[in-house]
Amino acid sequence: MSTSSSIAPPIAMLAELTHRCPLSCPYCSNPLELQAKDSELGTDAWADVFGQAADLGVLQLHLSGGEPAARPDLVDLTRAAAQAGLYTNLITSAIGLTPRRLDALEAAGLDHIQLSLQGVTAAMADHIGGYRGGYDRKMSIAAEIKARGIPLTLNAVMHRQNLDDLPRTIDMAVELGARRLEIACVQFHGWATLNRGALLPTREQTDATKQIVAKAQTRLRGVLAIDFVPPDYYSDYPKACMGGWGSAGLNILPDGTVLPCHAAESLKHLSFDKVTDRPLREIWYDSAAFNAYRGVDWLPDPCQSCARRDVDFGGCRCQALAIAGDAGATDPVCRKAPGRDRVDALLQAALEAGDSADLVYRVSAPTGTRPA
Ligand code: SF4
Ligand code: FES
Repeated sequence: MSTSSSIAPPIAMLAELTHRCPLSCPYCSNPLELQAKDSELGTDAWADVFGQAADLGVLQLHLSGGEPAARPDLVDLTRAAAQAGLYTNLITSAIGLTPRRLDALEAAGLDHIQLSLQGVTAAMADHIGGYRGGYDRKMSIAAEIKARGIPLTLNAVMHRQNLDDLPRTIDMAVELGARRLEIACVQFHGWATLNRGALLPTREQTDATKQIVAKAQTRLRGVLAIDFVPPDYYSDYPKACMGGWGSAGLNILPDGTVLPCHAAESLKHLSFDKVTDRPLREIWYDSAAFNAYRGVDWLPDPCQSCARRDVDFGGCRCQALAIAGDAGATDPVCRKAPGRDRVDALLQAALEAGDSADLVYRVSAPTGTRPA
């Protein structure tokens, strides 16, 4: 069991300012049930959280959602975070941003923008985002970001329907002046699990993607940094989810609930504190939820005796629960895990559903229209 003195402070915090979002991406990893607007923390409460985070040792703040630009006080929140001494990264679809708002965000101290990309054409992007006209608005704001020289990361969530456009995605990142491109193959948490059949890439796509990424990383060295998150169902070993539970980062939901990872609310046997009820420092160091899977002492076999024990910490707790039925089990993606056959069965079912599987959109998308 870890003790307070052996626990390092978090480096990064993801603040989900709101669950409201004009887009309706089928790969959304937010939960099936979204939090309502009237449960969101207000401006002062968020500012207090940012101050607590900085005191705790957090360096990077990711302003996320939903769509954070749906918050009318986004500029005030950014200013509060910058004044607390945090490096601020706005994770956005660009819907809700305007040139004037970009100016205000810059003046408030915004350090970086992470722009999502749903596709390289309006037809694909608007189809995936479930928002007609979204692509054109995104491209227009991307040009404004480039003109201002705001450091930009392009975040392309890739899946079966758009992976074949990867070479064009990479070219677009260069054209838009991005310094970094995240090619993130869809991870199946939250809403995305409803779309596994339609979105899981094929093995051929996955193999081709690895080669394209490796070549581009060499060709664009010094121009564009490329991060690649492969679809883990095809991997032999799991990722170190969140760099280890309660190890490097934390997430805060719109209502102030503090989670060790994005999908932790699915672990119903744990109870998560709100930052309005308990100081962030106490939650990080002392709460039962943050200590539940911290370190490696709790790990089951085969992890305990595995050479990768301190590399991946047994993988993802939420995936272990969702697929193996036990949050304390070895991540079933692992070839050594007793539950690996369940991942193989999911893979098989998703590939059989193949291109005939329809995308399932959130019916509650508050604005925007879907292409016919
Ligand atoms: Fe990681 Fe556990 Fe698999 Fe080893 S057995 S690779 S520690 S998940
Ligand atoms: Fe929760 Fe991986 S998403 S531990």
